[in-house]
Amino acid sequence: MRLEDAKRDQYRRLAREEGYKSRAAYKLLENVRKYQLIKSGDVVIDFGAAPGGWLQVASEAAGDSGLVVGVDLEPVDLNEPNIVSIQSDIRSPELAVKLEKALPRKADVFLSDLSPQVMGTWDLDHYRQIDLTMAAASLMGGFLRKGGNAMFKVFDGERFGETRAMLSKQFRKVQVTKPKASRKGSAELYLVCFDFS
Ligand SMILES: C[S@@+](CC[C@H](N)C(=O)[O-])C[C@H]1O[C@@H](n2cnc3c(N)ncnc32)[C@H](O)[C@@H]1O
Repeated sequence: MRLEDAKRDQYRRLAREEGYKSRAAYKLLENVRKYQLIKSGDVVIDFGAAPGGWLQVASEAAGDSGLVVGVDLEPVDLNEPNIVSIQSDIRSPELAVKLEKALPRKADVFLSDLSPQVMGTWDLDHYRQIDLTMAAASLMGGFLRKGGNAMFKVFDGERFGETRAMLSKQFRKVQVTKPKASRKGSAELYLVCFDFS
């Protein structure tokens, strides 16, 4: 077995043992620990939330006084009092109204782990993932408070620079990260963004 496959299996096994819905949970967990990205009492929005690994990590970090609102095309099977899940396309015109209803106030943290159905044609997958990221970022503007933080998954490629520049205009600092749970061979990167203006 290749080292990268073994690493993927290791996180998958760990997720099963620790009760996380996906090994993706560890990608967020690493940045939550490193940057205190989510604090107790925070309101968090999570785009591309299914099956729910990030929702679980955000729910634990935000605690009983916080709230996490997840959005995905797919349903989420989680029953925690501080998680609300909305089954929707992030591009649906009705989503803004649903988010307004679900949120008690503007969010402290915005998360996006959106991925299109990957076709294996890298350029096309990259373009489609960046389109999703841009759509998420444009909706974020109305729902994230000034001073809030964010984390975006981005497929590396031709439009990576443009995406990073777009976020750098909106946040004081944008940090590129590659969490340990993300395979080296995969072109996904995570942009951790601080202090929304
Ligand atoms: C990598 S998975 C997310 C994993 C999740 N963060 C976790 O920790 O379990 C990417 C998700 O993006 C969702 N997605 C893709 N396009 C979407 C869209 N247009 N609207 C909403 N969700 C979308 C997919 O349904 C998929 O569940």
